[in-house]
Amino acid sequence: MANPPQIVLLLPFLFSAAALLSHAEEKFDVRSHLSTVTRYHISKGISENSFVPSNIPDQCKPIHLNLVARHGTRAPTKKRMKELEFFATRLGVLLENAKGQKSTVIPSWLRGWKSPWTGKHKGGELINEGETELYELGIRTREKFPELFNENYHPDVFPIKATQVSRASSSAVAFGMGLFSDRGKLGPGRHRAFAVTSESRASDIMLRFHDCCQNYKSFRKSQEPSVDKLKEPVLNEITQELVTRWGLNFTRRDVSTLWFLCKQEASLLNKTDQACALFTPSEVGLLEWTDDLDVFMLKGYGNSLNYHMGVPLLDDVIQSMEQAIMAKEDGLVPGSYEMARLRFAHAETLLPFSCLIGLFLDGREFQQILNEQPLQPPLKPPQKRSWRGSTVAPFAGNNMLVLYSCGSANETSKYFVQVLHNERPVQLAGCGNSDFCPFEEFKEKIAYPHLKHDYDALCTVESEKPKQTAPTSTFSRILSWIFSSSAKQTKESEL
Ligand SMILES: *[C@@H]1O[C@H](CO)[C@@H](O)[C@H](O)[C@H]1NC(C)=O
Ligand SMILES: *[C@@H]1O[C@H](CO)[C@@H](O)[C@H](O)[C@H]1NC(C)=O
Ligand SMILES: *[C@@H]1O[C@H](CO)[C@@H](O)[C@H](O)[C@H]1NC(C)=O
Repeated sequence: MANPPQIVLLLPFLFSAAALLSHAEEKFDVRSHLSTVTRYHISKGISENSFVPSNIPDQCKPIHLNLVARHGTRAPTKKRMKELEFFATRLGVLLENAKGQKSTVIPSWLRGWKSPWTGKHKGGELINEGETELYELGIRTREKFPELFNENYHPDVFPIKATQVSRASSSAVAFGMGLFSDRGKLGPGRHRAFAVTSESRASDIMLRFHDCCQNYKSFRKSQEPSVDKLKEPVLNEITQELVTRWGLNFTRRDVSTLWFLCKQEASLLNKTDQACALFTPSEVGLLEWTDDLDVFMLKGYGNSLNYHMGVPLLDDVIQSMEQAIMAKEDGLVPGSYEMARLRFAHAETLLPFSCLIGLFLDGREFQQILNEQPLQPPLKPPQKRSWRGSTVAPFAGNNMLVLYSCGSANETSKYFVQVLHNERPVQLAGCGNSDFCPFEEFKEKIAYPHLKHDYDALCTVESEKPKQTAPTSTFSRILSWIFSSSAKQTKESEL
């Protein structure tokens, strides 16, 4: 029974040693603290508020669904795999340097460690676990909305759009395989073929607006050092702790790599007893916060351009709803008009879109956003925050906007919008905290204030604005000449 003292000290750091943990720590699962590397099923298990969704009146029927989904669990990129391979060498040096010391606490897995991705030459793809996430989401979506998905497949009734990045289009295919399984004639799964379309990466302002927006790219580049500065004190502190705890001379950079490794192991390999076990739960909480801060500043509410540049997508969503309403008003039968618009993209798409519809805000914060006042960044633990990467954009994270028609009894608000975030109804701060929002109110209070922004105006670098090389008509060229304040601006820069 009597353990040597240093072992007793170590055990609280090992998540498997549940017997010695306090009740609160016993429940700590590192897999739900991985920010945007969190797996979808884990994210769904995180329930933070106890809000009870409204009952939808019986006479209300879904008539259209918009989906914006992030791709599922993916392999690390090639660059990150290289970083891990270098780290194996670096570890060798650290262990060598520690040899003379009497410390015996070094975890055995570190000796001779090799990256699990050693020898893999390509990265970034959707992995099996990610396929399953989207496939199952497709099946659940059909089960939940039989009114929408019992119709025969036609590419104009169920358009499926993905970015021109393979993990996103593979995600679209996995989702479609679930959604349309048992509906076709192909193989034992009775699959059917369906179309997934993509815009060119260079001009996909609907789903890859971040990649086409020059002003955003410069903002991001200029902002990265100051975000790093914000994270630095926390990383320094944890580095010190780790050096003392494990007797290895880790640098801040090593600790960043170890946190990255922890996230990959826990998320992709379901392994929490190696890199993750080097950190205490409270250190994990702080590292998670640094990731969330990053996401907030560069992809979320931290800067209005982050989400304003998503207006083409918001506009597309509103238009699709208006078209469905027109079809309904014209008495078209279900299946003769578009029932759902399904989109598969990236965290860089989902996060700004969530901001545009005001998710994760209270009423006061929603007002601040409308007034273009910056929001306070997410509070550092142990203070609570609602902006957590593990819930706002886990792998396969998604928003569904379901449009309901509630019959003709109530003429003032006949159509309603329900937003499901990761399949759960959410309260809309922009709609008086209702989770069942009259369409007109959704449009006027939530969408219109953003839709007054123009993508080109937001994204085009000032000096490039009057583009002479673009195949614009002479007329618009003359207009831009007249309206540009300075003739110097017409000097075109290279694109
Ligand atoms: C640990 O590393 C730092 C710089 O990375 C170095 O200055 C210091 O001498 C090292 N300490 C030991 C004990 O190796
Ligand atoms: C992941 O690990 C946990 C224990 O840490 C286990 O309960 C669970 O079944 C594992 N999941 C998979 C998919 O292997
Ligand atoms: C119409 O619906 C709204 C929202 O459900 C409700 O507040 C209002 O009383 C209804 N009006 C009529 C005339 O039924």
